[in-house]
Amino acid sequence: HRTNSTREKLHMHLLIKQLPRAIIIGVRKGGTRALLEMLSLHPDVVKASQEIHFFDNDQNYARGIDWYREKMPFSFPHQITIEKSPAYFITEEVPERILKMNSSIKLLVIVREPTTRAVSDYTQVLEGKERKNKMYDKFEELVIDTNTSEVNTKYKAVRTSIYTKYLEHWLKFFPVEQFHVVDGDRLIIDPLPELKLVEHFLNLPSWISQYNLYFNATRGFFCLRYNFVFNKCLTGSKGRIHPGVDPSVKEKLQRFFHPFNQKFYQITGRTFNWPR
Ligand code: A3P
Repeated sequence: HRTNSTREKLHMHLLIKQLPRAIIIGVRKGGTRALLEMLSLHPDVVKASQEIHFFDNDQNYARGIDWYREKMPFSFPHQITIEKSPAYFITEEVPERILKMNSSIKLLVIVREPTTRAVSDYTQVLEGKERKNKMYDKFEELVIDTNTSEVNTKYKAVRTSIYTKYLEHWLKFFPVEQFHVVDGDRLIIDPLPELKLVEHFLNLPSWISQYNLYFNATRGFFCLRYNFVFNKCLTGSKGRIHPGVDPSVKEKLQRFFHPFNQKFYQITGRTFNWPR
């Protein structure tokens, strides 16, 4: 009986599982985890802790929308639920499926300078291979086609960094106003302004402040402060040390991405000073 009245006082009887009203669709290694965790500092935001992979995985998708909702955390009706699954951005079937669920959903895309993102992607895959004692090629050998000496567009870490290609596909399904681009490089060094832009995009009352973010010199990254007792940094798998890359290969990649970047700036209306 007492539990019930406590629940009433805390309004816990109002808790429900809601479908996401915003999704971080990518990009892999853009800072998707950091963005989700930082947004969940906001009292009106609840996050799905795991990547659900509902829309990109045919088996999961076949389980239906109730399965997806069941994966969501409990929330109060006024709160918005957010999930992130970075594979959504590059998976062809995803936009149409999300559209079927909610045509007015808000879509967050966090990007980094494309060459840096490719190196980060490579570093993550390399770590997995090393753990299994598998051989893996050097970054330079994977990104450059040895026959032509041109950039190897068959390599996934290169393709994923051609942001405009994927975005243009998404735009067949959603108007550009439903997307918000987050600067993943700035989220690393100065997260607050990026988070304020997202609060605005999501129509949330401005709440996240400098108090909620503190720089941890040991980690070399910003960490999260929820209140005076609870704070946390992201796990060690976020913020890996990248291997050095041959400068000529790096330049070749930057030149390769340049026209795609221009197109991306043009479409999104957000310009970055990515090197050419
Ligand atoms: P690196 O490992 O290349 O440094 P994702 O979550 O999409 O996989 O992105 C991982 C990237 O998030 C990391 O890439 C890291 O740089 C970045 N990041 C941004 N803010 C961070 C933070 N506060 N703590 C740790 N990593 C952060």
